[in-house]
Amino acid sequence: MCGIVGYLGEKNTKEILLDGLKELEYRGYDSAGIAVLQNKTFSNYKAVGKLINLEEKTKDFTTKDFAVGIGHTRWATHGKPTELNAHPHVGENSYVVHNGIIENYVELKRSLEADGVKFLSQTDTEVIVHQFEKNLKIEKTAFEAFSKTISELEGAYAILLVTKSEDATIFFAKHGSPMLVGINQENEKYFASSDTPLIGHAKEVNYFEDGDYGFVSNDEIAIFSKDAKKQKPVFQAISTNRLSAQKDGYRFFMEKEIYEQSDVIADTLLGRLSEDAIHFDELDPAFFDGINEIKLCACGTSYHSALTASYMFERYAKIRCSVEIASEFRYREPLMCKDTLFVVISQSGETADTLETLKMAKKAGLKTLVVCNVDNSSMVRLADACILTRAGIEKGVASTKAFATQVTVFWMLSLYIAKLRDTMTSKKLAHQIFLLRGVPGSVKVTDTMHERIKRLSKRYLHGHGFFFIGRDVFFPLALEGALKLKEISYLHAEGYPSGEMKHGPIALADPELFTIALLPQHLLYEKSKSNVEELSARDSTICAISAIEFDKADDFIQINQCEDYMLEFFQMMVVVQLLSLEISVRLGNDVDMPRNLAKSVTVE
Ligand code: F6R
Repeated sequence: MCGIVGYLGEKNTKEILLDGLKELEYRGYDSAGIAVLQNKTFSNYKAVGKLINLEEKTKDFTTKDFAVGIGHTRWATHGKPTELNAHPHVGENSYVVHNGIIENYVELKRSLEADGVKFLSQTDTEVIVHQFEKNLKIEKTAFEAFSKTISELEGAYAILLVTKSEDATIFFAKHGSPMLVGINQENEKYFASSDTPLIGHAKEVNYFEDGDYGFVSNDEIAIFSKDAKKQKPVFQAISTNRLSAQKDGYRFFMEKEIYEQSDVIADTLLGRLSEDAIHFDELDPAFFDGINEIKLCACGTSYHSALTASYMFERYAKIRCSVEIASEFRYREPLMCKDTLFVVISQSGETADTLETLKMAKKAGLKTLVVCNVDNSSMVRLADACILTRAGIEKGVASTKAFATQVTVFWMLSLYIAKLRDTMTSKKLAHQIFLLRGVPGSVKVTDTMHERIKRLSKRYLHGHGFFFIGRDVFFPLALEGALKLKEISYLHAEGYPSGEMKHGPIALADPELFTIALLPQHLLYEKSKSNVEELSARDSTICAISAIEFDKADDFIQINQCEDYMLEFFQMMVVVQLLSLEISVRLGNDVDMPRNLAKSVTVE
């Protein structure tokens, strides 16, 4: 996830910017850069990879006395992690850093290119600085040019801009991406996209509201609201606890990551959807020539996303698909055919068992693809092709947002292959793409939903076990719900296909057996409902999750009405994640670092 810092003052600007970026490292990034304006001269440095590379590049660059500076850590979403794509982005006389997405950048870029502007990067961000400089030629002041530029942007952003035409000022704007400014008695001004870089420097901070924009100079902090009304800054003391600041006010990283899902799914979709097609710039369509089957292989949560994918590949792309647990696949002397595409899925890209299966498939001459969250990881380097999920760094040991982005990628990939194989009408494909656009909205956590789950959780702290049940893609989701609960509550939980319960497990049913029933309105509702009724008749305690009221349940968590089962899938995913989290909290467990587990399993 990208990070922003900014500084205006008389101390060592370079060090302050680099230290600030270090405090944002925990968010994950793949390139970084700074731009410092001093005595009407800009110095700009960028480096791919870790901050140590940027430190190395700037080792002979020194700053003292008054300067303004901006810095950025970039997690590649639009364009590869290269120096040219790293921020700050340059115009003729200005630099900009930006978090978020400029949705109308293509139109802006076209019109700027028509005016003769040459773009250096593939990013959406670069349009901001060129648009600003275009406006600077028309408007009377730099501030007026900046305000006009902001009014022309659509999307989400936190922006800092510095320009030679006002060389003791930092311009800022915030809409949908966090940003704050901090002050102290020495009249320094610090900007950042989260609290941590400001701890120890600023005494008080003002958190910008959506729509705020303005400028900061030695004498002034000028904030305007989106209707151009001047606002007074509202300063408050800054937290002094770094770890809690990293959690952005959430109690746990896992909770923060559940709440982040809407944003990271939006990032994962970015640039990959048009009206009637899915685009994966990283894939050559010819890669799928001669492929008649897909085999997916992974561990744990990633295995559950693979299982979910298998339903979509067969349903939408009409291609044979099988799913393997990596630790099993490795040793069972599997038969591998050259017309099979071998797909590994991994958040970390380092899981030993999954990595080994990738090596096996390569050795057998299969085409290989990895769906992964970490660029340059072992699997990414080894596979023939790669699709990166854009979940940002995941800190909670229990995976949440990585799973959400994996399923999003697989939904897109199944449609991409459906188009290649001509297995879906263009009308249906367009509708599927329309539905995909609804995913970020469907995973937004509301206070009402979270409060309800918090309250219900106290009834599920005992008993002799949990069964999460569902059909079709809701079966892998049931497996995932059960895995989340096991990992952080240490209670026994199983995921089961709803229709299988009567073939054995129903013998366990009594009031102390908790059934979490996934009841989607748009997929096999009546069939799933009968299965739950069978358990209810045998007195299992039932918590139903559905958009449709269900009176045979002891507890009911209502999701929103929507028009497709996959949107129900994403809503229910959030519910099972939050339920596990709240049960774990009530049991007093360490949510982010559950016992016996590690984030990356590099042993077999
Ligand atoms: C569960 C979890 C694990 C991982 C598994 C594979 O919450 O995080 O089950 O999914 O260890 O890890 P990756 O995806 O990194 O290969």
